[in-house]
Amino acid sequence: MLETIDGRAADDWNLTNPSFFADTKPEAVYARLRRDDPVHWTEGRLSRGFWSVTRFKEAQQVYANDNKTFSIQQAGNVLPAHPDFEDEANSEALRLTRDGASLSSMDGEPHNVLRRAFAEMFALPNVAKLETLVRRLSVEILNDVLPTGACDFAIDVAAKLPLMVIADVMAIPRRDWHDMYIWNNMFASPDDPEFSIGTPIETAGAALTKINGYCLGLALERRAGDGADLISVMARTEVDGRLLSNEQLAYNGLMFFAAGHETTRNTLCAGLEALCADPSEMARLRSHRHEPGALKVAVEEFVRWATPLNHQMRTAMEDTKLGDRDIRKGDLVVVWNLSANRDEAAFRDAGRFDSQRKPNAHLGFGFGKHFCLGAHLARLEMRVMLEYMLENMLDIEVLGVPERSASNLFPGIKHMPIRFTPHAPIAV
Ligand code: HEM
Repeated sequence: MLETIDGRAADDWNLTNPSFFADTKPEAVYARLRRDDPVHWTEGRLSRGFWSVTRFKEAQQVYANDNKTFSIQQAGNVLPAHPDFEDEANSEALRLTRDGASLSSMDGEPHNVLRRAFAEMFALPNVAKLETLVRRLSVEILNDVLPTGACDFAIDVAAKLPLMVIADVMAIPRRDWHDMYIWNNMFASPDDPEFSIGTPIETAGAALTKINGYCLGLALERRAGDGADLISVMARTEVDGRLLSNEQLAYNGLMFFAAGHETTRNTLCAGLEALCADPSEMARLRSHRHEPGALKVAVEEFVRWATPLNHQMRTAMEDTKLGDRDIRKGDLVVVWNLSANRDEAAFRDAGRFDSQRKPNAHLGFGFGKHFCLGAHLARLEMRVMLEYMLENMLDIEVLGVPERSASNLFPGIKHMPIRFTPHAPIAV
């Protein structure tokens, strides 16, 4: 007989329960679903069911039809973490999403237009100019931990680099970085007892108010200036001859800060964990540490392996088919990205971490219209940090079992104590 929790199939329940992701790696659930029911009607602990898409093929089909067959804006791109988040009256994030207040929650032509406005800043030639900054910040972070020969890699290294880089790109004053970091943790993992300040909805709501208010304040201050930072650029951006509204300024600020931070941190942690679990893979990559090409390939495998944005949700805008299932207009469809990236039909030896995997056309950065705008920046940060770590942290060992966040969106590593032999402080 199938295992049940509260009258629901256990797998269904678990997928809608953030705490499950803190305690368990979900790969076994995904493998069962890919094998038995790859487009699976899922009845969890939310008020309505949804389709779970677990194979690469159908996942790609959903993303390829974004803004037409599937909508982001209708109900958002995130499965509510808790029944409270399903109600717009409680959830400011859901209201802003439905209003299309951020790039990542917009459909159709308005999305195309705003994306074009931000695209140049994150295009490869402009991101390449940030390499000096990324190197300087990476050295600062590593030189703080190298003398001790031990650190919590998640907090002391992996969380710091993306936070410092995106904060610099947004020209957020250093004195405010710590507050933004705390608010971001509350927003990304409101179910996690380490970050919560009340119920999940209260925690996420308080964080959203703080980050939105902060970003809006900076944007309005900078609107009249000629700054080149992301907030100044946003403040001066016009769509169809009109400046962005206050809600758009605030929510896009939050989106960039959260998107640029949580994901990269989780990817660095999961990649290092995988390398430490396989010393021959670590030795192989270390021998390639002076080859940017090999490091770039490794970073793609970090992203496939980690898939830090574990799921994305869409709403069907018309009747359609996914696999052999009939999807009805209005149905919610959740793509489990990590499962798609472990699909044996799409990746040779999918369950193995291979630092030199080629080809590696993973869905870790998404696919299609909403493909990650920050992908070049994330790749740069991870390549540079990886290069310094391979050179300067020898014999890295993960101490104990890493602690994961209670989130079915960002179920990443929040603590990962490591020990290592320092090579030498890095010359600035
Ligand atoms: C390893 C790091 C990262 C991963 C794995 C990642 C992953 C993703 C994924 C899967 C999406 C698509 C969401 C969807 O289809 O609904 C996305 C969108 C996005 N990401 Fe990233 N991301 C990363 C880093 C960054 C960084 C550093 C930034 C900073 C600027 C960023 C900014 C964005 C934005 C703005 C979008 C929305 C694009 C749109 O809707 O048109 N991301 N990201």
